[in-house]
Amino acid sequence: MEIFLDTADLSEIRLYADFIDGVTTNPSIIAKRNASDFDELIKDICQTVAGLVSVEVISEIYDEMLEEGEQFAKIHSNVCVKLPCTFDGLRACKSLSLNGIATNLTLCFSSAQALLAAKCGATYVSPFVGRLDDIGQSGISLIEEIVNIFCVHGYETKVLVASVRNLQHVIQAAALGANAITVPSTILKQCFEHPLTTRGLEIFEKDWKKVKK
Ligand code: G3P
Repeated sequence: MEIFLDTADLSEIRLYADFIDGVTTNPSIIAKRNASDFDELIKDICQTVAGLVSVEVISEIYDEMLEEGEQFAKIHSNVCVKLPCTFDGLRACKSLSLNGIATNLTLCFSSAQALLAAKCGATYVSPFVGRLDDIGQSGISLIEEIVNIFCVHGYETKVLVASVRNLQHVIQAAALGANAITVPSTILKQCFEHPLTTRGLEIFEKDWKKVKK
């Protein structure tokens, strides 16, 4: 399963570069950086991590989405254009995908949206599990349904689990066969940290010190 870091923080990306397959951003994540030069920030991110970097259009109109997406693609060959699962976003996905530009259909909340994303040739589709959980629905059940539909029909679009709120989302996504997941650094940290590992090392060190005397 590919693991993306959901951030535009270059220090985080450098820290975890060995574990991640790329980066995803969105307008809220970019806004947090207060970057004076958007293109420069995206180029820096692309030069810091191996793998695709998802960059989201802000326009909601087909023609403007195309223009933004084509501009993003010129910044770096690793840019993956993020588009919303709307009528215009799906159409822009089809056009950009036909031009060989990687696409990530985001703000996906239903299997029907994911189905159309696959039919429009999306490279990735990003179902938001956390935001569905937030309104009392089961985000991970949506992942299970989409993974099954894509398997039954042999779609090449990759399921990129997004809006991840806890370690359980990561494990469940992996167990269900999701192709990819994007996580904030706080969740990535939980993937390798465990209190028993820390405690075990303390005991080993304490016992070893007795031997070395
Ligand atoms: O960047 C896409 C997604 O992972 C953001 O999710 O719900 O944490 O804003 P959320």
